[in-house]
Amino acid sequence: MALAPELSRQTKLKEVAGIPLRDSTVDNWSQIQTFKAKPDDLLICTYPKSGTTWIQEIVNMIEQNGDVEKCQRTIIQHRHPFIEWARPPQPSGVDKANAMPAPRILRTHLPTQLLPPSFWTNNCKYLYVARNAKDCMVSFYHFYRMCQVLPNPGTWNEYFETFINGKVSCGSWFDHVKGWWEIRDRYQILFLFYEDMKRDPKREIQKVMQFMGKNLDEEVVDKIVLETSFEKMKDNPLTNFSTIPKTIMDQSISPFMRKGIVGDWKNHFTVAQNERFDEIYEQKMDGTSLNFCMEL
Ligand code: A3P
Repeated sequence: MALAPELSRQTKLKEVAGIPLRDSTVDNWSQIQTFKAKPDDLLICTYPKSGTTWIQEIVNMIEQNGDVEKCQRTIIQHRHPFIEWARPPQPSGVDKANAMPAPRILRTHLPTQLLPPSFWTNNCKYLYVARNAKDCMVSFYHFYRMCQVLPNPGTWNEYFETFINGKVSCGSWFDHVKGWWEIRDRYQILFLFYEDMKRDPKREIQKVMQFMGKNLDEEVVDKIVLETSFEKMKDNPLTNFSTIPKTIMDQSISPFMRKGIVGDWKNHFTVAQNERFDEIYEQKMDGTSLNFCMEL
């Protein structure tokens, strides 16, 4: 499917150890790397567009024992800071995390090798959500189109090359997911899949609840399932990013809460792109037993 390129934007990514990141993140790298994690930190980790906002809302509802009012005190992006976020003169993600009381819930899109070392030495808890590569790629494309602080993605065909070569923000999907998957038994990592959350949200929410050491009644879990559904979150100004200025996210180009489905890649990939992607996937993910991308 050929999609029109958006107007050109001047933004460029910079790299840290070969991983492209937002320039403001790279400019603030020394603060990020020296961040002091605490042993009771819970870090939500995702490759972009894997369901970060969704798992955040779930975690927040569990944290607040299903109390909707308490979850709705602030917009979602202010609840759990991204540790790599920076946009001077505003306080950085690290500044916001440092100002939070413990126990903290934080977020990151960083691959394992770029995570501030204090997370590993403090044996923190990690909640990783993976989404199948093709849907992630499609979702990221539409996000790139609307997010004015990311580079222009070009046409779908141009973006396809950028993505498979790992030149998008946060680097290669393959390396990110593989990196977190390979260490899942060495650290306190709950590894979830977007597709499982779609298929059986109640079961996945219960896993998160146990991981967080909470034991909520079944009716509370049912309420969390309902309140964190795509439809509810799409309509909620505190979770749909509608408060973000158009100069940063232009949702008239593509909404943040776009489709929230499994398999939208079928509306974008050509047959040739799909065959090529499958070949690359097999090479890159060889030996991981992570074949979920191929089956969807
Ligand atoms: P689509 O663009 O495919 O619709 P992130 O929060 O990591 O940026 O991910 C955003 C993606 O997750 C978007 O995917 C968005 O629609 C989807 N999403 C957000 N909340 C969701 C929910 N409650 N249920 C299903 N998908 C959700």
